[in-house]
Amino acid sequence: LPIVILISGRGSNLQAIIDQAVSGGLPVEIRAVISNVPGVHGLERARQAGIETQVLDHRGFPDRATYDRALMELIDGYAPGLVVLAGFMRILTPDFVRHYARRLLNIHPSLLPRHRGLNTHARALEEGDAEHGASVHLVTEELDGGPVLIQAQVPIRPDDDPDTLAARVLEQEHRLYPEAIRWFAEGRIDFDGEQVRLDGRPLT
Ligand code: GRF
Repeated sequence: LPIVILISGRGSNLQAIIDQAVSGGLPVEIRAVISNVPGVHGLERARQAGIETQVLDHRGFPDRATYDRALMELIDGYAPGLVVLAGFMRILTPDFVRHYARRLLNIHPSLLPRHRGLNTHARALEEGDAEHGASVHLVTEELDGGPVLIQAQVPIRPDDDPDTLAARVLEQEHRLYPEAIRWFAEGRIDFDGEQVRLDGRPLT
C-alpha cells in the first residue's frame, strides 16, 4: 500500500511505522514524509530510513484553504492509497478531509470520544479519570470525531503528571498505529455507507 505520512515534530509514531515497514513486515511503501515545520526531528528520521522528505511551511500562505490546496497537490503527486497523520498539528479544511475521505488516518492521545483537541494528558488528570489512552481514527470534518478503529487503555497512577502519563500513552501509540495501518494494507477495512468494517464486521 503506498502511503504518505504527515508530521510536525518529533516523529516517534513515524519511527514506529518505519520500523514495522522495514522489519515487521508491514506491507506499506512510504512514498514521502511531509512536514509543515522545517527542521523537525521526524524529517531526520525519514532521511535516515532513505525516505523522501518534503517541507511545506504553512507560514507564507495567506490562509488555510490555500495551504491545504497546495498540500493536497503535493500529496497527490505520490498517489497514496492512505494518508497518515502522525503528530501533524494542523486543523485541516473540509475540502482536504473530503478529498481523502476513507483514506485519512489520525492518532489521538486519548480514549475518544473523551478529550478531543489539545492537552489531553493534563485534562485527563484534572478531571480525575481512572484511565486514559490513545485512539486511531478515520478523519472526518468533525475534529477528532471520526470513526475509531482501535484504542488502547493505560492506567492513571496517583503520582502521574502530564509527562509520565504521556510517556505511558505514547508507548501504546507506537503499537496501535502500525496495527491500524496494517489492517488497511491487508485490505481488511471496508465501508458500508458510513459504517467502517474490519474483516466484514462493523467496528463499534
Ligand atoms: C502523539 O502523542 C500523537 O498522538 C499526537 O502528537 C504526538 C506526536 O508525537 N497527535 P510524535 O511526533 O509521533 O512523536
